Amino acid sequence: MKRTFETVGVVGLGTMGAGIAEVFARAGLRVTGVEADENALSRGRGHLESSTGRAVARGRMTSEQQREVLERIAFTTSREDLADADLVVEAIPEIMEFKRDLFADLDRICKPSAVLATNTSSLSVTAIAATTSRPGQVIGMHFFNPAPVMRLVEVIRTVVTEEGLPAEIAELARRLGKTPVVAGDRAGFVVNRLLLGYLNHACHLLQSGLAGRDDIDTAMKLGVGLPMGPFTLLDLIGLDTSYEVCEVLFRESRDRRHAPAPILRELVTAGLLGRKTGRGFFSHAGEGTAPAP
Ligand code: 3HC
Repeated sequence: MKRTFETVGVVGLGTMGAGIAEVFARAGLRVTGVEADENALSRGRGHLESSTGRAVARGRMTSEQQREVLERIAFTTSREDLADADLVVEAIPEIMEFKRDLFADLDRICKPSAVLATNTSSLSVTAIAATTSRPGQVIGMHFFNPAPVMRLVEVIRTVVTEEGLPAEIAELARRLGKTPVVAGDRAGFVVNRLLLGYLNHACHLLQSGLAGRDDIDTAMKLGVGLPMGPFTLLDLIGLDTSYEVCEVLFRESRDRRHAPAPILRELVTAGLLGRKTGRGFFSHAGEGTAPAP
């Protein structure tokens, strides 16, 4: 029997989770957003208010529509509130142990027909699925940053995914105004597998002294017609996430192109993670840009 998705849970309301919650609420679905504690919850609510506020300021949404979107989202610190969800999308940090604990919990809490999805960028969807008693109903639903804007959703099927489920999730993605592509469960899937090799290579070029940060960014933006140069994009994605994806790709492929560039590791170790911490390759504190690292 074909499933209907009307009530959705989103676990983790960081940049990606909040964006994903917004996408579902804008498409008219009821959303329950879950965070670990009250502080994280209020940060998540803040992300949603500012993102929809920006849409209002740009004339893309009326204040009335913004109110309706926000009203469709319930905020909670209790996972138990996901008992009635038709679908839960996980967007917590990329730490396998946390994901496995969460999915075991979701498996206990959610109704038997519920689909459990992960927004993981690089971890094994199959390994996450294996922690549940319903591995056939576990799937990857990978959004891109910023989720309300980027039009792609990668739908990740594993060897045990129920036949027909990828097509149902692809249909849901279309209902959200996104274009789905279905891919197998290999590190990085399609986009990150290709993109992180390029971004990591840009870091190596910077380190080699071939060109400076701004010139590499300008070259790729103007020479290739990309919306952002590689260092601006790394700061948007988050240097920690980028580093993690490279590590996983390198571990899986042993391809040296994916060995994380030392500069990436240094910035992550220093806690300079990009936009989310106010500084990465650039300063985002509103004071212009920092000197090239
Ligand atoms: N949240 C919500 N909306 C946002 C937003 C955000 N964080 N950032 C931008 N927008 C909206 C703006 O409101 C605007 O909407 P409008 O046209 O309706 O008014 C629209 O996006 C364009 O924004 P701006 O005019 O401010 O800026 P740009 O034209 O420079 O576009 C961008 C910004 C969409 C981020 C563009 O630079 C871009 O596409 N960059 C590349 C992003 C990318 O490659 N993302 C994928 C990263 S890989 C990934 O996420 C995978 C992960 O697993 C690592």
